[in-house]
Amino acid sequence: MLLKDLIHQGVKALESLYPAAEARSLVLMLCQERLGVMSWTHVVEPGTVVSEEELPGLQDDLARLAAGEPIQYILGYTEFRGRIFKTDPRALIPRLETELLVDEVVKHWAGGAGTTILDLCTGSGCIAWSLAYEMPGAVVTGADISEDALALARSQFRRLPKGVVRPTFMKGDILDFDTPFPKCDILTANPPYITLPEKQYMRPNVLDWEPEVALFAPESDPLAFHKAIALWARRLLSPGGFGIVEINEDLGPETLAVFKSFKNARLIEDFAGKSRFVAFENE
Ligand SMILES: C[S@@+](CC[C@H](N)C(=O)[O-])C[C@H]1O[C@@H](n2cnc3c(N)ncnc32)[C@H](O)[C@@H]1O
Repeated sequence: MLLKDLIHQGVKALESLYPAAEARSLVLMLCQERLGVMSWTHVVEPGTVVSEEELPGLQDDLARLAAGEPIQYILGYTEFRGRIFKTDPRALIPRLETELLVDEVVKHWAGGAGTTILDLCTGSGCIAWSLAYEMPGAVVTGADISEDALALARSQFRRLPKGVVRPTFMKGDILDFDTPFPKCDILTANPPYITLPEKQYMRPNVLDWEPEVALFAPESDPLAFHKAIALWARRLLSPGGFGIVEINEDLGPETLAVFKSFKNARLIEDFAGKSRFVAFENE
């Protein structure tokens, strides 16, 4: 089969799920990854053929895409702050805006080796591992309620550069105030924050594939997780410690109010100018 026909077919099959440009870029990404071709090969060399051996695997992948499965689960990886993280349905796919949370911590914190960091709701461990890499010597603990997510987080990297301390991961429910989370100099969290009314606007590739436990805030109180994190920060942060949490863009002022008893509680925007984080400091 000609590569250009396969691409045409693949894009057509995604029409109802994705905007045209996104559908095209997903199919091209898959072809680049699986066939080693470039995104323009089918244009400059229209006679390029997909071999009999390569075709079935690629058609399977295209069928998975057409069923709404996120490309990151099909490929099994995504990039986060320039590093390759394994991705599968056990945990949320790391998002681009969450890279900014790591950036804020790295920018803010002048402490050296031995700095202790607690990353609540760690999921794939993208925040925990990034901070371990980017703050050599920091001692990072990632915590999550999901055993599945923790297994993925633990498996992320094998060999680490000299000076980077391997994060540890523990099971813990942030709504259970008997959980023995460790004390820390820095507390980070990206808790589930989507509200139920927002569900109707979500695309099937997220709603049907990513773990529900990673997406939705409690129906009874969309800020319940942030309120719990504020209590944990009070209990665990060392004097002068720094905290930052990712938030629902529509609940900026309300979430900021949850952290108002901390020093310098402030909203931080993402690339799109939306309220995306609350940062704060302990006295
Ligand atoms: C939005 S995801 C964030 C994952 C990852 N930190 C990231 O930024 O990609 C939220 C995570 O919170 C976890 N979670 C949900 N409820 C929790 C709870 N009560 N206690 C601890 N973790 C919880 C989920 O399992 C999920 O991994």
